[in-house]
Amino acid sequence: MLENTAISPQGRPVLQGETLIEARNLPRHVGIIMDGNGRWAAQRGMPRPEGHRAGSRSVRRIVRLARRIGIEALTLYAFSFQNWHRPDDEVSALMALLHDYLLSERREILDNDIRLAAVGNIDKLPEWVRFALDELCKTSASGDRMTLTLALSYGGQEEIVAAARRLAAEVAAGRMRPEDIDLGALSANIPSMRVGEPDLIIRTGGETRLSNFLLFGSAYAELYFCDRLWPDFTEKDLFAAIDSYQRRQRRFGLVLDDG
Ligand code: IPE
Ligand code: IPE
Ligand code: MG
Repeated sequence: MLENTAISPQGRPVLQGETLIEARNLPRHVGIIMDGNGRWAAQRGMPRPEGHRAGSRSVRRIVRLARRIGIEALTLYAFSFQNWHRPDDEVSALMALLHDYLLSERREILDNDIRLAAVGNIDKLPEWVRFALDELCKTSASGDRMTLTLALSYGGQEEIVAAARRLAAEVAAGRMRPEDIDLGALSANIPSMRVGEPDLIIRTGGETRLSNFLLFGSAYAELYFCDRLWPDFTEKDLFAAIDSYQRRQRRFGLVLDDG
């Protein structure tokens, strides 16, 4: 399908002549809550890990398209801090799939100048997964076309707590005053903010909640919820989300001239 994606004479990427998105008003940072793998499997009478396997194929498609249309930062919610409480066999299957993904996508990531990063409580991942993750993050560090951040063992609240703890320690050590703690200091201690605030957050699977994703940065993010289960999410759906984003007026609390 990607072959049908082109930039029109007006500088607009088009998909099969159906959805037009403007190249100049792209969201810089897109976050995706990839939900619905379990239900996808259940609908087919398959075990939940099969849904996750199908979901990893969507990851491949969407990373490729995001890179191609010029999204600077893509953050994918792959495993939440709370997801550790799922049944052991499901957690193991997810870890194995993550490991497979890191190996199978290595070439694609490096060849396409994608920088891989991770946010979350990475220390909790099994060592063999962490090893592959660290290696690819390091090897791809000079990638300058898109930063792909995997949110793994990630919780937005946990991330804010950790930042508060670090800043409190600085104050206790006398290196900072309480009044030095401002938005800048807090953001600088929130790893998911390294790529800036998300402009657009997409959630698949029909639920309309953030489930602890990018809580600090999402203050003024545009939210896009779609019913499609993640394994069924295609290039066309990403274009529809971006098209919806581009029709919105972001006001950031201000009154704009035309409104
Ligand atoms: C999202 O799909 C993937 C992860 C949370 C790891 P789910 O596994 O939550 O799928 P549903 O929501 O149960 O369908
Ligand atoms: C959010 O989905 C986490 C990921 C997509 C990785 P969940 O399925 O865990 O969220 P809830 O339980 O529906 O809120
Ligand atoms: Mg879910």
